[in-house]
Amino acid sequence: MLLSRAAARRVVFVGGKGGVGKTSVASALALAQARAGRRVLLVSTDPAHNLGHLWQCTVGPEPRPLVPGLDAVELDPDATVAAHLQQVGDALRRLMPEHLAGEVGKHLSLSQDAPGMHEAALLERIAELVHDGLSRYDLLVFDTAPSGHTARLMALPEMLTAWTEGLLQRQERSERFGAALRSLGRDDGIGARALGGDAPASTPADRDQTIRSLLHRRRHRFEHLRATLADPERTAFFIVLAAERLPVLETIELHAQLRRAGIDVAGLVVNKRAPRDAGAFLAERHAQEAAHLDTLRAALPALPMQQLPLLASDVVGVAALEAFGALLAAPAGTR
Ligand SMILES: Nc1ncnc2c1ncn2[C@@H]1O[C@H](COP(=O)(O)OP(=O)(O)OP(=O)(O)O)[C@@H](O)[C@H]1O
Ligand SMILES: [Mg+2]
Repeated sequence: MLLSRAAARRVVFVGGKGGVGKTSVASALALAQARAGRRVLLVSTDPAHNLGHLWQCTVGPEPRPLVPGLDAVELDPDATVAAHLQQVGDALRRLMPEHLAGEVGKHLSLSQDAPGMHEAALLERIAELVHDGLSRYDLLVFDTAPSGHTARLMALPEMLTAWTEGLLQRQERSERFGAALRSLGRDDGIGARALGGDAPASTPADRDQTIRSLLHRRRHRFEHLRATLADPERTAFFIVLAAERLPVLETIELHAQLRRAGIDVAGLVVNKRAPRDAGAFLAERHAQEAAHLDTLRAALPALPMQQLPLLASDVVGVAALEAFGALLAAPAGTR
């Protein structure tokens, strides 16, 4: 089910609670799609960084090949925030009078721990990856951090687009004001040119233009991300869970959150299902799980649900991922 539903999409998100098997499912899916001939980028947005462990190699902030057709990248939230603030700082310092450079630095070092900063920086990086990645890859697979965080992340493009829009409008007003001032002949840049010298490197008009193009680029990226996420033909979200009471209830809640954010949930993956035929203890466990899955079915009747068995050993290395991926091709079932 998972494979056939992912095969037609360009962007797939794999989400769910901690330890349910998101990284295993995302990796197996990415590998299967690469084997099917698509160019795939596997992205981990999880601060816990575990692609490296599973693939038995080091995965960092720049894409690296894992197998032919499959690259991987791990976004480090702290490094992403630092790079983001560096970029904002450079832009601000270029735009502000020199004597305020110290203030810019102070403001930015305070921003480092501001609420929402990690999410905003991560989202900026995701927007960039989706924007640039779709021209180089056929499929982007995101292995996301545990649920609550992910749902908030999914609602952010809307908020950031609105925020950037507000800044642009304010900037347009101040630009008109600046232009009015300049037409009164009080502007240094115009004055310098009137005196016959070369125009200074950064006139107020140049600065306005720089801010505008920065904000426009940003708005364009967020709009692109928003449009991509909201398009069920291109983007799918899969929720991985265990067949237990709380995870089931949380999955129903996550599904509702994603719906509110306009994201299509394409399927559920119930992982680590206890076997029915391996002794009385596990058979009882299996029956208990089935009752929880009935609750899930009743709440989300139309959603395809894939079940994966509890395996005797961990999913580590390419061979294990290939076997795990084969299970993802099975049709969706109910029990
Ligand atoms: N079906 C399965 N049977 C047995 N073990 C499994 C199964 N699926 C995953 N595992 C193992 O469970 C552990 C957690 O899996 P994984 O790292 O994929 O989960 P995760 O949701 O990404 O966790 P985290 O939230 O910490 O990132 C791993 O050791 C993995 O090998
Ligand atoms: Mg993981």
